[in-house]
Formats: sequence, structure tokens, C-alpha cells
Amino acid sequence: MDNNIAGKVVVITGASSGLGEATARRLSEEGATLVLGARRSDRLETLVGELTAKGGKALAKTTDVTKVDEVKALVDAAVEAYGRVDVMINNAGLMPQSPLERLKIDDWDRMIDVNIKGVLYGIAAALPHMKEQKSGHFINVSSVAGHKVRPGGVVYSATKHAVRVISEGLRQEVKPYNIRTTIISPGAVATELPNSVTEPDVAQGIQKFYEAVAIPADSFARAVVYAMSQPEDVDVNEILFRPTRQEL
Ligand SMILES: NC(=O)c1ccc[n+]([C@@H]2O[C@H](COP(=O)([O-])OP(=O)(O)OC[C@H]3O[C@@H](n4cnc5c(N)ncnc54)[C@H](OP(=O)(O)O)[C@@H]3O)[C@@H](O)[C@H]2O)c1
Repeated sequence: MDNNIAGKVVVITGASSGLGEATARRLSEEGATLVLGARRSDRLETLVGELTAKGGKALAKTTDVTKVDEVKALVDAAVEAYGRVDVMINNAGLMPQSPLERLKIDDWDRMIDVNIKGVLYGIAAALPHMKEQKSGHFINVSSVAGHKVRPGGVVYSATKHAVRVISEGLRQEVKPYNIRTTIISPGAVATELPNSVTEPDVAQGIQKFYEAVAIPADSFARAVVYAMSQPEDVDVNEILFRPTRQEL
């Protein structure tokens, strides 16, 4: 397979559901070796079982991305088992949206810890290996909310704007090391993400919106395939996509 994916070692955070899980499936079909992290290890083990039963190569490691040592251990497990890390997909995230005046400070903290610090910890874990290899690819998951802010989604949007700033800064800094950087910003995609909303009225509105417009998670996986499969001298820096029926 000359798809620039087969044989690559790909680490995915948040691989136990949604976009991460769909991406693991799709990349495994394309011949990648997967190292999958999330907190729900039962879900990861089931997925690894499914991929390996089909002839794929994959391993799971329980990982909380808010813990810097666990993210490092995830990437180190990839290097130990497979000798390198070619792609780091910083995907883990949550979206407990609510208006600022409700002062859901625990939710703000969790979003900052997972959506921003989790991405930074992923960079910290993979960058030293990629520098040494003089090759690598970071794929960081932002959102349409990383391009727009709307009432009720301020903190989530701030974290997703941060992902884009971090990724673009990283892109500029890693030029000497032949490392590619891609930001993927999806619109509404059918996953478990709306379950992370803690305010019942907000959750209801988001569920209704997702039921009306969301597209399947493989849409994201195909964007990953597009970015990865370009020749090594082509760096796809940003992909923004939405359901055709999504207005904002
Ligand atoms: N779906 C959309 O419409 C959409 C749109 C734009 C952007 N996004 C972004 O896409 C990414 C993936 O979300 P999704 O839509 O696939 O939602 P999802 O189905 O809820 O998946 C979220 C993943 O993140 C993991 N996660 C959450 N907290 C974690 C932690 N502390 N440590 C490790 N993993 C953690 C979850 O695993 P565990 O619970 O097992 O740890 C799960 O695998 C997120 O960054 C989200 O913001 C999604």
C-alpha cells in the first residue's frame, strides 16, 4: 500500500469513542499501527480486539490526558513496542457548555485541563521522539468553535481557539525537524460529546441540534486520512468541515 499511512505508528488520545474510535478503525484498514489511549480501558481493549482480529496491529493503554506522566507513558509505550511514533493525534476532549453566568467553574477547569493541557502534554510526550527521528506529524483536534464564539459556548470555544494557536505556533517552531502539523476543526459529528454537557437545559438543546444535523464520525477519520496520506513534503495545516446542513 503506497498511501503514506501503512506501517506508520499512530498514537490517538480519546480513542475509546467517537472521532478517535472511528479514526482508529479507518487507519487500521489503511495499514497503520495504532496505540490507543483513554480512561475507559474496557472500551479500548474491545477495540484493540476488533482491530487485531482483522489482522491489524494495535495496543491499548489506559491514559488520562490531564496527567502528564500518563500521556508520556502512552507515547513511550508506542516507541517501546513499535520503535517510533509517526503521528500523534491529540483528540481527547469534552464540551460541558453553559453560559458564563452559571459559574460552572468545575466544567471550565475540566475543559482547560483536557482540551488545552491534554494537547500540550501530548506535544510534550511526542515531540522529543519526533525531533530525534527528524520526522513526525501532529494532528490536533479543534472545532468550528475554534473559529467562532457564541453565547453559551465561551469556555469550550476558548479552549478550541487555544488548540489552533498552539498548533500554528508549533508548526512554525518545528520547521528544523521535518514535522508536519494539522488542525482539524469539525462541525457537528455524531459522537458521545453531547453527553459531556452537565446543564440539563443546555444538554437538551445540543442533543436536538446534533440529532438534526450531525454527520457520522467517519467524516473526521477521512480528513485524517487525507492529511496523513499527502507526500511528506506536503503539510496540510488546517481542515475545517461541517455537515452540509449546518448553518453556523
Ligand atoms: N463531535 C463533534 O461534533 C465535535 C466537533 C468538534 C470538535 N470535536 C472534538 O473532537 C474530539 C473528540 O470528541 P468526540 O466528538 O469523539 O466525543 P466523545 O465520543 O465524547 O469522545 C471523547 C473522547 O475523549 C476522551 N477523554 C475525555 N476526557 C479524557 C481524559 N481526561 N483523558 C483521556 N481521554 C479523555 C474520552 O475517553 P474516556 O472517557 O474513555 O477517557 C473519549 O474517548 C474532542 O476534542 C472534541 O472537542 C468534536
